[in-house]
Amino acid sequence: MTNQRKTICITGASSGLGAALAEIYARGKARLVLTGRDAERLQTVAKRCEQLGAEVHTSVLDVRARDLTQQYLTQMDHRYPFDILIANAGISGGMGGIDEKDIMAQGYEVFETNLTGVLHTIDPIIPRMIARGRGHAVLMSSLVSYSPWPGAPAYAASKAAVRFYGEALAQTLKPHGVNVSVICPGFVRTPMTDRNPYRMPLLMDTEKAARLMKAGLDKKKRLIVYPFLTAFIAQLMGMIHSSVMTHFLAKTPQKPALPDQL
Ligand SMILES: NC(=O)c1ccc[n+]([C@@H]2O[C@H](COP(=O)([O-])OP(=O)(O)OC[C@H]3O[C@@H](n4cnc5c(N)ncnc54)[C@H](OP(=O)(O)O)[C@@H]3O)[C@@H](O)[C@H]2O)c1
Repeated sequence: MTNQRKTICITGASSGLGAALAEIYARGKARLVLTGRDAERLQTVAKRCEQLGAEVHTSVLDVRARDLTQQYLTQMDHRYPFDILIANAGISGGMGGIDEKDIMAQGYEVFETNLTGVLHTIDPIIPRMIARGRGHAVLMSSLVSYSPWPGAPAYAASKAAVRFYGEALAQTLKPHGVNVSVICPGFVRTPMTDRNPYRMPLLMDTEKAARLMKAGLDKKKRLIVYPFLTAFIAQLMGMIHSSVMTHFLAKTPQKPALPDQL
């Protein structure tokens, strides 16, 4: 039985979408390799997943720490070759309530986690998947990747970079037997969105979001974008001329600054 378990590794599994994905795979009796920064919340998620039938391995890991992230993931992939690696860890912040002097610093903070952190996660594992001729790498982007949103410039740009990189990698790695999926969720109720003071159209609960993500991943879809209506609008906006889009986006609310900037 143990040897038949699929191994799924998820970064940022201590909360929100990462935790919801861990639970849905736990129901399928997977072997889970879960990481996050908050040890207590990570253990709570791990315990729930074990109760659901998963074999769980956890490590407190900051994806900004390249060497530690690469060492741990390589070691775990050596013991239990990953079937699916989900680079989910992310932070979100924008211009709401920010002090002028922090605007540029926010760019570094957001890119270090959302972009460089994703590279630190997939970089050691993709060559190993290529060598095995199989594997599935998943990159967490966002619907915001379709619009240069002035209310959260670094967040939107980091997610756009992740989406472009993932979509391009999918083509590059396909001949090597490695699948790549990019997930672009709309608004999902998590601690990240709980901070948003504005109305979030079609806000979805995490269980439903996890079901949609898993359904897309089961089909090895290159791009998983949901919910349908906001996805349609976001993709339409991506086709609108930049001057019209910028005019429209200037009227949208600002995402609150990073917690340590308020
Ligand atoms: N919720 C949405 O509406 C939405 C929409 C589109 C995309 N997303 C993306 O989905 C992903 C998950 O977001 P969420 O909504 O589930 O938010 P969340 O509840 O705040 O969870 C974020 C997760 O990322 C982890 N994390 C943050 N920085 C990290 C770092 N430096 N190293 C390691 N782990 C780190 C957190 O760990 P700790 O808590 O342990 O620090 C936590 O487990 C993010 O990439 C986010 O951008 C979310």
